[in-house]
Amino acid sequence: MKLTVAAVASLLVLAITVTTASAVTFEVANNASATLGGERFDREYGLDYAGQVLSKASFFTWGIFNQTSPAERRPVDHVSLVVTDADGIAYTDGSTIVLNAGYVKNYTGDVRTEVTGVLYHETVHVWQWGLQDYSAHWWVFEGIADFVRLKAGYAPAHWVKPGEGSSWDKGYDVTARFLDYCDSLCPGFVAVLNAKLKDGYSDDYFVQILGKCVQELWQDYKATYGQ
Ligand SMILES: *[C@@H]1O[C@H](CO)[C@@H](O)[C@H](O)[C@H]1NC(C)=O
Ligand SMILES: *[C@@H]1O[C@H](CO)[C@@H](O)[C@H](O)[C@H]1NC(C)=O
Ligand SMILES: *[C@@H]1O[C@H](CO)[C@@H](O)[C@H](O)[C@H]1NC(C)=O
Repeated sequence: MKLTVAAVASLLVLAITVTTASAVTFEVANNASATLGGERFDREYGLDYAGQVLSKASFFTWGIFNQTSPAERRPVDHVSLVVTDADGIAYTDGSTIVLNAGYVKNYTGDVRTEVTGVLYHETVHVWQWGLQDYSAHWWVFEGIADFVRLKAGYAPAHWVKPGEGSSWDKGYDVTARFLDYCDSLCPGFVAVLNAKLKDGYSDDYFVQILGKCVQELWQDYKATYGQ
């Protein structure tokens, strides 16, 4: 499934700033090309490459979500990335991803791998269901976004290791590692969870999909890693 999706993606990706795949257009703009971070983005990453990554990350996310037809996906036909001076690392508002040029400037290490990982995470926010419930249950949405980043092979070295963390609802890497455990118990768990999130989050989804409450699953997870 994932292999098929990746193969289709590589056929459809075009090395231009506006990339079209599966009736979705990907557009990248650098709004900070006069800043050091914007210059670094142009030099070490590039608009065309970023467009390809948005396309690949979208196909990859649909694969993880088991959304074989567009009818199962959020109705988005245009995804854009703007590199600009903003706060933090990056954020996504609807189908617009904003990457902070200052973060690109400061990053010490392989900027291509890091920016790609960030773009995978943000692309998930474009496609995941249930964001109307984000403020109440942000951890599950951030956890799913980092889960997809993990499955794509872009987990950074500073993340917690499997089994680490104090609770399933810490979000980001801690939740992503836990979701990876849940997905190992029942491959496709995250796909089913994402589909259920369309109606907002409920702890009961863990019981519905895996037959155990989230507290018990967390204990099992910690025990599996000797914690
Ligand atoms: C682009 O940069 C200008 C000037 O810094 C700013 O006013 C504008 O909001 C930026 N656009 C986006 C989408 O970030
Ligand atoms: C980048 O580094 C400068 C200097 O240390 C700092 O003031 C700034 O907040 C950093 N920006 C980001 C986005 O990390
Ligand atoms: C993926 O979705 C199809 C239906 O669209 C379903 O038959 C299949 O079981 C799902 N796969 C997983 C792993 O959930």
